[in-house]
Amino acid sequence: MAAGGSAARVASVPHPTAGNAPILVELQSVAKTYVSRDGTEVDAVRPIRFDIGNGEFVAIVGPSGCGKSTLLHMIAGLTRPTAGQILLQGKPILGTRHDIGIVFQDPVLLPWRTVKENVLLPAAVRKSVLSSASARAAELIDLVGLSGFENKYPSELSGGMQQRVGIARALLLDPSLLLLDEPFGALDSMTREQMNVELLKIWSESRKTVVLITHDINEAVFLADRVLVMSARPGRIVNVHTITLPRPRTVSMIGSPEFGALSQAIRADLYAPRGDNS
Ligand SMILES: Nc1ncnc2c1ncn2[C@@H]1O[C@H](COP(=O)(O)OP(=O)(O)O)[C@@H](O)[C@H]1O
Ligand SMILES: [Mg+2]
Repeated sequence: MAAGGSAARVASVPHPTAGNAPILVELQSVAKTYVSRDGTEVDAVRPIRFDIGNGEFVAIVGPSGCGKSTLLHMIAGLTRPTAGQILLQGKPILGTRHDIGIVFQDPVLLPWRTVKENVLLPAAVRKSVLSSASARAAELIDLVGLSGFENKYPSELSGGMQQRVGIARALLLDPSLLLLDEPFGALDSMTREQMNVELLKIWSESRKTVVLITHDINEAVFLADRVLVMSARPGRIVNVHTITLPRPRTVSMIGSPEFGALSQAIRADLYAPRGDNS
């Protein structure tokens, strides 16, 4: 992890975890089978049952192609499940909605719009009152550490900065749920570590429920309350690890025996032969 004062930037706001928080999201035997044009079926996600607590930080790890993005897209309402349903605050998710924010691996910024204009995009699309959205955008740009860059264009930003714009944009409409699909996968390891610390700060300050897909086990352990491990395709849950590390998390915890043991346990699940842990 990045050294140098990062720990002090992690706010010490206590957070509810799975055990005591009301449920925000319910995955009720959710499954997805894609049907290609020639009629071939691809089982992407086997029926998954899982509840996410309000304010919880859940990380999902699993091999490439195991259905992680499919699962996240179903939660976002971008893809309909072929079986089961997903509830947000007790109501089925039937399509995209402003109370769910999503950040993709590629931040997909509009190159002809400034940082602030990109952050404001969801408000422009929904024709929300732009004056209040503008004030909110300024707050979020500050929250993600981009003050002073409001009027820059994406081509003038580093990859990490572009990803921060994507996160601010996803938070603009104040979603109760923030979904992140390998958002830092393309970043160098130092920037990635800094982004992890930033993300913890954002989570603490905005008090969102977060679901993060990552292929980095240490990132999952450092950030999450629970880490859900998926099997190779068709994806199913092989294990759920409760991360017992105290909060606020600091980079110094990464070298601790407890951190190492948690990472190792997750790694063991990922590399277990199929059929184990089922
Ligand atoms: N739109 C689609 N049509 C057909 N197959 C798809 C589609 N999207 C994903 N898949 C397949 O579903 C499986 C899971 O994909 P994905 O959810 O992207 O996995 P992951 O994010 O874990 O890498 C893969 O085999 C992929 O090829
Ligand atoms: Mg994916």
